[in-house]
Amino acid sequence: MRFPADFTWGAATAAFQIEGAAQEDGRTDSIWDAYCRAPGAVVDGDTGDVACDHYHRMPDDVALLADLGFRAYRFSTSWARVCPDGALPNAAGLDFYSRLVDELLAARIEPWLTLYHWDLPQALQEEGGWTNRATAERFADYAEATYRALGGRVRNWTTLNEPWCSTFLSYAGGEHAPGHTDPREAAAAVHVILLAHGLACQRLRAVADEMGWELNLGITLNFSAPIPADPDDDGCLEAARRIDGATARVFLDPLFKGSYPDDVLDDMAEAGLGENIQEGDLEIIGERLDFLGVNFYNAVAVAPPADGGPWGGSHPDDGLTYTGPGGRPRRSPWVGSERVQVVDRGLPKTAMGWEVHGPDIGRLLVDLHEGWTGEVGIPLYVTENGAAYDDQPDADGFVDDSSDRGAYYRQHLAAVAEAIERGADVRGYFAWSLMDNFEWAFGYSRRFGIVRVDYETQRRTPKWSARWFGRVIEAGELVD
Ligand code: NOJ
Repeated sequence: MRFPADFTWGAATAAFQIEGAAQEDGRTDSIWDAYCRAPGAVVDGDTGDVACDHYHRMPDDVALLADLGFRAYRFSTSWARVCPDGALPNAAGLDFYSRLVDELLAARIEPWLTLYHWDLPQALQEEGGWTNRATAERFADYAEATYRALGGRVRNWTTLNEPWCSTFLSYAGGEHAPGHTDPREAAAAVHVILLAHGLACQRLRAVADEMGWELNLGITLNFSAPIPADPDDDGCLEAARRIDGATARVFLDPLFKGSYPDDVLDDMAEAGLGENIQEGDLEIIGERLDFLGVNFYNAVAVAPPADGGPWGGSHPDDGLTYTGPGGRPRRSPWVGSERVQVVDRGLPKTAMGWEVHGPDIGRLLVDLHEGWTGEVGIPLYVTENGAAYDDQPDADGFVDDSSDRGAYYRQHLAAVAEAIERGADVRGYFAWSLMDNFEWAFGYSRRFGIVRVDYETQRRTPKWSARWFGRVIEAGELVD
């Protein structure tokens, strides 16, 4: 199980989840600051006000990354810090990322910057957020300002992280900020966010040309790699087709094939997906990319709606509402296919209740390479993979996660190595996450870190898995 010598080994975080300093140096509210204040939105009423206090501890955190042996670091910039209120650039906000980049480069760690990891300025949400086409232009402005400031030192840029979450889960599912439950808003947001991606790509390419900077530009999508619960059952096959369409192909097709898939346009006709497209949009969305980022946690086995009922549901009150993690009502984010059922495969689960089955990531990577990226000759990077468990620290704060998180990483990395052997062009892997952090609607109740954070003292203690990564990176292969 050897990895290629130039394989990129990284750890990942995101601004809102670790930075804190929510009111400092000109930063304004993002939709997550506002959403955290909504009763029942986040477990225990947790907020991002302090988080891991990374804003004040950044040099130490970079030193820790280096000490663990990571060669790359995936982080995001906060739009509300760089362009408060979504508009003009703020020198103090940009300065934080400039110092972070300098610190990384001095430690010989390659920066991988993501422009949007879910923290839209609240001021833009008040104008409709991702349902408003003007937000796409504002995103391009923010992207360009950030790129002009950092593009000479940062080669790897990602426009969006997991647009499925920023659209379906946020505007139809109600689980993420802004917490809306309207399928039509979600469908509109899908198109606007893809347009934002395309416009930002155009701006970055233009500045890269103007400045003579080398640019490695991509987008990160999340995948649930659906499989039919019964591969011989037509209903299960149809359920898998629908969920694949509603989670992956709705983004992959416009990005790589120049149009939305017909079956997804049909499935989402009531939500009006097709109604949002204007002339020229798909050319913008289909801008050339240099890589596809793949976030993977678990696959789902799916089956048709119980009792042969309809696939979809059109109204938040039609029996499709559930209780969200913080207690607030939410609904299915699977627009047009809300009643598809997830079937338990009887596999072990993480603290998120997500099934653990390493070979699923291998299948996904090979499928993506063969069906999408291989054809256009671009590589894949696993930009996130990891697991939350109920860690039990010893008296020194050390967590021996060898048998749960460690085992998860081992089987997923083994499957990545195998996918490479089977021909998938996978060039790197980032563990989620460098440290325990704010897990969105779950607040601080779920720990994904390979480094433990004691939120009382902000002390960082590498877990067994962090040290294991160091040994794997050094050896270039899986070790015990
Ligand atoms: C994907 C997201 O990008 C990240 O922010 C989140 O913490 C992990 N999934 C775990 O849920």
